[in-house]
Amino acid sequence: VQEGSLIARFGRARRDRSLAVLEGFHPLKHALRFGANVLLVVSRDTDELERLAAQLAPDVAARIAELAQAVTPSVFEQLAPLPPTTGVIALAERPAVDAATMLAAPREAPLVLLEDPRDLGNMGACVRVAAAADAAGVLSTGSHDPWAPDALRGAAGLHFALPVARLGALEELAAAGGTTGLDGLASAAGEHAPLAHARPLLALDPDGEPLLARELPPRALLAFGTERYGLSDELLARADARVSIPMRAGVSSLNLATSVAAVLFAWRLAAAR
Ligand SMILES: C[S@@+](CC[C@H](N)C(=O)[O-])C[C@H]1O[C@@H](n2cnc3c(N)ncnc32)[C@H](O)[C@@H]1O
Repeated sequence: VQEGSLIARFGRARRDRSLAVLEGFHPLKHALRFGANVLLVVSRDTDELERLAAQLAPDVAARIAELAQAVTPSVFEQLAPLPPTTGVIALAERPAVDAATMLAAPREAPLVLLEDPRDLGNMGACVRVAAAADAAGVLSTGSHDPWAPDALRGAAGLHFALPVARLGALEELAAAGGTTGLDGLASAAGEHAPLAHARPLLALDPDGEPLLARELPPRALLAFGTERYGLSDELLARADARVSIPMRAGVSSLNLATSVAAVLFAWRLAAAR
């Protein structure tokens, strides 16, 4: 009965937008390292889990040992559609984050906006590189949940290292006072200026003007388009500028996560962070 209720609990958690299903060791490691409230850790081999933790995450090994519960391999196989090879799966609470707060956050770091991304692994890779570059966060539009288990897997659980949330619709950018023109940002300089927290919206588009990393506005909202079709006309119409990552002639475009990586690390390396 206990094993049956465990299987049911993981099944429900996959549809629960307040929970994160962490499939594998690395998502669990990063969740703990970045302060997640981990509710449950289940392992098909606790000795192997202890070895992995000692080798790859000694900083959180004691916490993993404290939380881990052993289950038989046959139960473990039923806790995820593709059971993780590291033999561990966990549940954590999602942190409370919302798009308006992310847009308003004053730190001088770019915020990534993924417009209707279709591939959860690709979304996860975007979150992972945004965390590594120390970006301000990742927003996404469209039907996919950026906290879906496959996205968490692709991100190695780095959703807990920076804010990640869905933006219901592009109108929310204006409602939150989220964007302004490049000139508007300059004129809003000053501690008490009403637009001081607004963000210039830069559309990343292979047909845009070549990007100059040193000239990226410090609080840019960097918009990347859907894998097949690129950015929507609506987003392009809202953008303050359209910029491209220069490519060799004949290459149509970069993969979505690769283009996020190129821009964020161009920014990071230009500022020698
Ligand atoms: C796979 S691409 C989409 C390709 C689509 N056919 C197009 O023309 O935009 C996914 C996203 O990555 C970004 N991207 C890819 N290559 C880029 C480049 N060279 N310059 C700027 N953005 C790029 C864009 O935001 C694009 O919408």
